Amino acid sequence: MTESHVSRRTFIDATRTGLKETEVGPSVEAYKHLHSEKEGGDVDARKKSYATMINHYYDLVTDFYEFGWGQSFHFGPRHRGEAFLESLRRHQHWLASQLDLREGMEVLDVGCGVGGPMRNIARFSGAKVTGINNNDYQIKRGTAQNRAAGLYHLCRLEKGDFMKMPFEDQRFDNAFAIEATCHAPDRRPVFSEIFRVLKPGGRFAGYEWCVTDAFDEKNQDHQRIRKGIETGNALPALTPTSVVDDALRAAGFEIEETLDRAPSSDPETPWYLPLTGRENDFRGIQRRPLGRAFIKNFVKTLERVKLAPQGSSEVSAVLNIAADALVEGGELGIMTPMYFFKARKPG
Ligand SMILES: C[S@@+](CC[C@H](N)C(=O)[O-])C[C@H]1O[C@@H](n2cnc3c(N)ncnc32)[C@H](O)[C@@H]1O
Repeated sequence: MTESHVSRRTFIDATRTGLKETEVGPSVEAYKHLHSEKEGGDVDARKKSYATMINHYYDLVTDFYEFGWGQSFHFGPRHRGEAFLESLRRHQHWLASQLDLREGMEVLDVGCGVGGPMRNIARFSGAKVTGINNNDYQIKRGTAQNRAAGLYHLCRLEKGDFMKMPFEDQRFDNAFAIEATCHAPDRRPVFSEIFRVLKPGGRFAGYEWCVTDAFDEKNQDHQRIRKGIETGNALPALTPTSVVDDALRAAGFEIEETLDRAPSSDPETPWYLPLTGRENDFRGIQRRPLGRAFIKNFVKTLERVKLAPQGSSEVSAVLNIAADALVEGGELGIMTPMYFFKARKPG
């Protein structure tokens, strides 16, 4: 079993969140405020308050994610006949192979979530993986899952902001980041920090969320979809792929390869398939549009009868905004959650 089931999240658990009951409502309001243009919630405000915004978001959504998605909080290219979780594992293993991860290596996982990818990658490669994460609740969940999976000797989660990491220079052989540095208010400082903690000759590879070359800045639909993706996923700003490339070079890296992996999906099974309602796995029901609408209404009922904290239905509404915008962005090919890059620290 690759997903360890430490008190696996039930539907009621999904509304519990990483917060005290009375904190959920105010946290949702504070989060929404940063994304509301009417209330001054522009890109600058989000960049300034990035740590608070992202922590509000992950305190609120982690249990929903675990309930509906599992322990790896990312997408993967899909193939016909391949189950959802298999596709995520293949995407992680592919990344580990790109870095040639092996037993005896010390590897950094930047923005590690609850550690689903780190556990799969440690099992696959034998490398020792340290994850950095700024969210206390995810660290608590992920550490318990590492122990339950018998992987505590290989996998650790450490608390810290990836914009200023608590690690000494040149500590790691290699580093990876899966759909996490898109949360950075600015790519260059986070990539500079990764550069600093890598040994000379060390590699950094990952998957980035970006708008693609098909995105038209003058197209209002494109703008609306980008806004939905930013709002639903706690992104200060969704940027073009060139911003990632430029920031890697500015941090001192030599880029070895870049590639949008989204088109490598079978056209019948695109990466956003789990959010569309076209997937035939039972577990996918809660991720489908109808399932999501049902969940939102059901959570409202739970709020009314005081089985879920006030504000929980707003959390599921934010996740629905995310899902709808991601499907639209994916169908138009204007965004990708898997812009792959591989870069090397000279030396
Ligand atoms: C979409 S999740 C991906 C998690 C993980 N890589 C995975 O694929 O399961 C993004 C992660 O980045 C973390 N994160 C965002 N901003 C961060 C920051 N400034 N410092 C450290 N971690 C951060 C979040 O807490 C979250 O765990």
